[in-house]
Amino acid sequence: METHVNALRSAMAVTLLASIVLACLGQEPAGTTDNSTKLPAGPLGETIRLGRELVERTSTHEVTRPYVGNSLNCTSCHLRNGTDPKAASFIGVATAYPAWSPREQRVITLEDRVLNCFMRSCNGIRPPLGSTPAVAIVAYITWLSADQPMRMNPERPNGPLSVPKLPTGLAQPDRQNGQILYSERCASCHGEDGQGDSEAPPVWGERSYNEGAGLASVPQLAAWLHVAMPPEERNLSPSEAFDIAAYVNSLPRPHFRLEAHLPEKSRLGEYNSAANE
Ligand code: HEC
Ligand code: HEC
Repeated sequence: METHVNALRSAMAVTLLASIVLACLGQEPAGTTDNSTKLPAGPLGETIRLGRELVERTSTHEVTRPYVGNSLNCTSCHLRNGTDPKAASFIGVATAYPAWSPREQRVITLEDRVLNCFMRSCNGIRPPLGSTPAVAIVAYITWLSADQPMRMNPERPNGPLSVPKLPTGLAQPDRQNGQILYSERCASCHGEDGQGDSEAPPVWGERSYNEGAGLASVPQLAAWLHVAMPPEERNLSPSEAFDIAAYVNSLPRPHFRLEAHLPEKSRLGEYNSAANE
């Protein structure tokens, strides 16, 4: 009798455990596309939802607008709010951090990486650590990594789906050919003057990414164009992508001087707590 009761108890415990696990899994599917209905309950879910909005409307949303100095949103380059598996995807990115950053010469957190993008790609001011945009965007990106194995990156601050480098050893990029290709393949949306239209963002000039951004490097822009542009027919060959990248990055864009993009010292970090004792 005793043994029977014990067996029954452990069977119940297993069932309970399994249903808890299943309930958790059901709430957090690994990075697919629009998961708005499956966000975790309560303030965490609301924070993740805010993070996604900030990624989509970075330059216009009241929470992030003060920290952005151009017309770009995170989704301008991390297509479909970072859920496009090819174009600088956010899927799985949280598993790579903390990571070694050759540029920073430090081990950095995902929060650092997110905040640095405001200074460079978005040509703005670094939001304080622990501030609302920092917490919300990190929550959103982390949510897109649910169920993926942790693999901190000891070489560079990049996740498992980061944009593959193009083969080196191609001929010197041909800027003039790049200009011709730009007119044929890009100007219908981004304009002959590079200033974009109501949907396509500017690709050079004061409202574009600055010289400190990842895309300001010709090999990085070429690698990204190869997998991301034109959005509906991503078929540039590596050498075409290099030629166009050399042309686009030869045109003027904001200079980058680090001090001009850091907030005053007292605003560099925030105590992320509502505790009053
Ligand atoms: C001008 C284009 C551009 C904009 C705008 C931009 N990024 Fe990025 N970002 C990149 C590129 C390119 C990379 C490198 C991607 C790679 O190597 O796969 C990158 C890398 C990252 C990474 C690291 C990804 C990884 O694989 O570990 C994070 C996180 C990130 N960006 C967050 C943001 C956030 C948040 C914003 C908005 C505040 C933003 N980025 C705006 C172009 C951009
Ligand atoms: C059909 C219109 C269209 C075409 C053609 C197109 N783009 Fe884009 N491009 C976009 C849109 C829209 C975005 C922003 C993505 C978003 O917000 O979803 C974008 C984003 C970009 C970005 C990152 C944001 C920025 O402005 O810096 C670059 C760089 C870029 N495109 C370059 C190019 C180049 C180079 C070509 C030609 C090979 C090209 N695009 C062709 C529509 C287009």
